[in-house]
Amino acid sequence: MTALRINGARLLERHKLMAGFGETGNGGVIRPALSDEETSARLALLNLARERGFACSVDPIGNLFIRRKGADEGRAPLRMGSHLDSQIPGGNFDGVYGVIAGFEVLETLEDHKVASDAPIEVVVWNNEEGARFSPTTMGSAVHAGQLSLDKALGSFDQDGNRLGDELARSLTQLGPLKSIELGSESLAYVEAHIEQGPILEQNEIPIGVVTGIQGIVQFEVRITGEEAHAGTTPRSRRKDAFWAALDLTAQLRSVTADKDDAIRFTVGRLTVLPGSPNTVPAKVAFTIDLRHPDEALLASVHTQIYQAAETLQTPCEISVITTLNSPPVCFAAKVISSIERQAAEVGLDTARIASGATHDAKFMAPLCPTGMIFIPCRDGISHNENEWADPEHMIAGANTLLGVITELTRA
Ligand code: GLV
Ligand code: MN
Ligand code: MN
Ligand code: MN
Repeated sequence: MTALRINGARLLERHKLMAGFGETGNGGVIRPALSDEETSARLALLNLARERGFACSVDPIGNLFIRRKGADEGRAPLRMGSHLDSQIPGGNFDGVYGVIAGFEVLETLEDHKVASDAPIEVVVWNNEEGARFSPTTMGSAVHAGQLSLDKALGSFDQDGNRLGDELARSLTQLGPLKSIELGSESLAYVEAHIEQGPILEQNEIPIGVVTGIQGIVQFEVRITGEEAHAGTTPRSRRKDAFWAALDLTAQLRSVTADKDDAIRFTVGRLTVLPGSPNTVPAKVAFTIDLRHPDEALLASVHTQIYQAAETLQTPCEISVITTLNSPPVCFAAKVISSIERQAAEVGLDTARIASGATHDAKFMAPLCPTGMIFIPCRDGISHNENEWADPEHMIAGANTLLGVITELTRA
C-alpha cells in the first residue's frame, strides 16, 4: 500500500487564498486580530470547512474549532492549529502555515475516507500575535485558564476599540457556529510553523523537531508627568514623561545585556502624549517583551524591571503591569519521537530545535501531549513582509503533520 500524502497543489492554493486577505502589495499582509481582513480569512476557511462537512465551533474568546468526526465522538479530539492574525505588517507564513497545513491534513483524511477513532480538529487561535490587542497568545492563554476571559475581552487596541466588541462584530460575519466551552479536553496538540530563525536553513534541514519554547513575560509601562510649555519651562520644573522613559529603558538595557546574548529584551511600542512638538510630554506608555529559556533567570529580570521602575530618580509617576507571564515549556517525548519517526517515513532529515518565538502550543503543553514541527524560512526572517518558506518545505511539513496525526490517533 502506498503511504498517504497530502495534496501539495491544494495546500499551495489555500496559502495563496489566505495571502489575499489584507495583502499589502509588498509581499506581506496587514491582518490584525479581529480586523475585517482577518475575519474574511476566517470566513473563507470556515466556508471551505463547511463545504467538506466539517463542524465549526467557536469558544468565548473567539478561538475557532474545525472538526472532522471520529468513530468515537465521545473521545477528546486530537488538535492541530495556529493562527490567522498577523503582525502590522506581517508575513504570509507566520501562523497561517500551521492552519492551512492542519486543514490540509483534515481534507486528505476526508479525501481518502480514512476513519479515525478520535475526532480531529484544526484550531484557529484568536489574537496570537498580540500586535493589536495585548497580550500575545491570548486565545490559547484563555483556553488554558492562564488568562481571565474578562481581562482578555476588556483589552483595548490603540484606537480605543474593545476586544469584546470587535469579537462580537467579527462573529456576526462568520455564519452559524456551534459554541464550545473554554478549556475543552484535547487528546494531543501539534502545531506546524515556520522556524522564524535561521538554523534549519543554515543546516539544510527540512524539518525541525521542536523541543520546547523559552519563557516570555510582557509588560505595559505607563509614565505620567505634566504637560508644560516647551519654550518656557526650565528643566528643574519639568515632569517630562519621555525623559523618564529614556532613563528607565537605558537602565533596563544594561540590566538585560547578558554576556551570552540569551536575554531577549524588546521595547516594541512607545507612545508619547499629547504628541505636540512644543509641549513637554505628560504621558508615555511603552511595552516590554522579555524572553529567556531559564525560568529562574527570567523571574529575576522580571523583578529587576519592577525595581528599576520603583527606584528611578524622576518627578514622574511610573506604573508597570505584567500582561503575560509564561514560563518555558518542554514538549512531550511522545510527540517529539512521533515527529522524528514520521519525518523519516516521508524521507526527510530532522534536527531537534528550541523555539525562540512563542506559540499557542506553549499554553497547550501543560494540558495534553504537545509538540511542534518547524520548517525553514528564508534567511530566518519573520515578523517582516519578506517572510518566505519554500513550497517544497511547506509540503514536507504538512506530510510530516499528516503522519504524526495519523500515528497519534492510533495511539
Ligand atoms: C509571536 O508571534 C511571538 O512573539 O513569538
Ligand atoms: Mn505564529
Ligand atoms: Mn508571530
Ligand atoms: Mn508566534
